[in-house]
Amino acid sequence: MMERENEVQGFWEALELLISESELVIDRPRGSTHPHYPVLVYPLDYGYLKGTISMDGGGIDVWSGTLTTRKLDTVLLTVDLFKHDAEINLLIGCSDQEKRTVLDFSNNQSMRATLIRRDGGLAWLQSRRSVRHFLPKPVPDDLLYQILETAAWAPSAHNSQPWRFVVLKSPGSRRKLIDAMGAEYRKDLRSDGLPDEEAEQRLNRSRERITSAPAAILLCLDPSRGDSYPDPVRQNAEYLAAHAVGLAGFWMCAPLFSPSAIRHSLDLPGDWHPVALILLGYPDGWPEPRPRLPLNEVVRLV
Ligand SMILES: Cc1cc2nc3c(=O)[nH]c(=O)nc-3n(C[C@H](O)[C@H](O)[C@H](O)COP(=O)(O)O)c2cc1C
Repeated sequence: MMERENEVQGFWEALELLISESELVIDRPRGSTHPHYPVLVYPLDYGYLKGTISMDGGGIDVWSGTLTTRKLDTVLLTVDLFKHDAEINLLIGCSDQEKRTVLDFSNNQSMRATLIRRDGGLAWLQSRRSVRHFLPKPVPDDLLYQILETAAWAPSAHNSQPWRFVVLKSPGSRRKLIDAMGAEYRKDLRSDGLPDEEAEQRLNRSRERITSAPAAILLCLDPSRGDSYPDPVRQNAEYLAAHAVGLAGFWMCAPLFSPSAIRHSLDLPGDWHPVALILLGYPDGWPEPRPRLPLNEVVRLV
């Protein structure tokens, strides 16, 4: 383990040394266009390290972000099937949003790209957010399947795998879900003593969120598969799988409160118990992190 850590640290330190010894030349500033493909507009300052050599014979490519800390914590690896070329790009001083932008920019027609993060996980994990506003861009089915496949690798008691996923593909199925949940939700809000007007506002907000999200997955549990709980492990697996492919979303617990109505309206098997609705899409903005309790409040050594 230690050997692996040293190896990883050595790699990043070597890159830092190269950066410190080289002059950064920004020859394609943010907003400028690609010299051969004018439709490509550089979303960030792009340049190279003078005096270095990369696979295409030019200097090592650098994306330079807007952060004042000029930290190198991520590299982008690209494969260009048109040029038959593979490259490493250094991302210096880039925010999470900027990294995402560079990744999107670099995944174009003939090119495929992936980000490699220095800390391997923690910062990446911490950069996940519950996102409730999405770009009007469909989520490809293969990404959805990739997310569900990852979620299905979560551990379960006796490997009972009690999760069931209902992907709400048609507007009709979302409408049925909204109607089924809405009736119960309205009743609950009334019995909570919420004024009708406020209750309607909340219902409308939920309705709007569910209809406008590019993808919606109803998570069900099948208790006949053994003891089961809506466990955070699986929920996190799903969130993180979405995060890993550039999507984001949030968990709505509303289905917990009207399981039979939902089961009936979507004609689900009797032993599928709806527990959550997960809305997914490409994020439109990135919320500020929600604070977490300090560890000493949530950990006890016994
Ligand atoms: C079990 C569970 C239920 C949740 N239910 C809702 C919900 O009904 N509506 C909603 O907007 N967010 C819901 N959330 C999202 C939380 O509000 C969010 O995870 C929390 O505020 C922390 O923010 P973060 O995910 O951006 O770190 C739920 C999260 C979990 C884990």
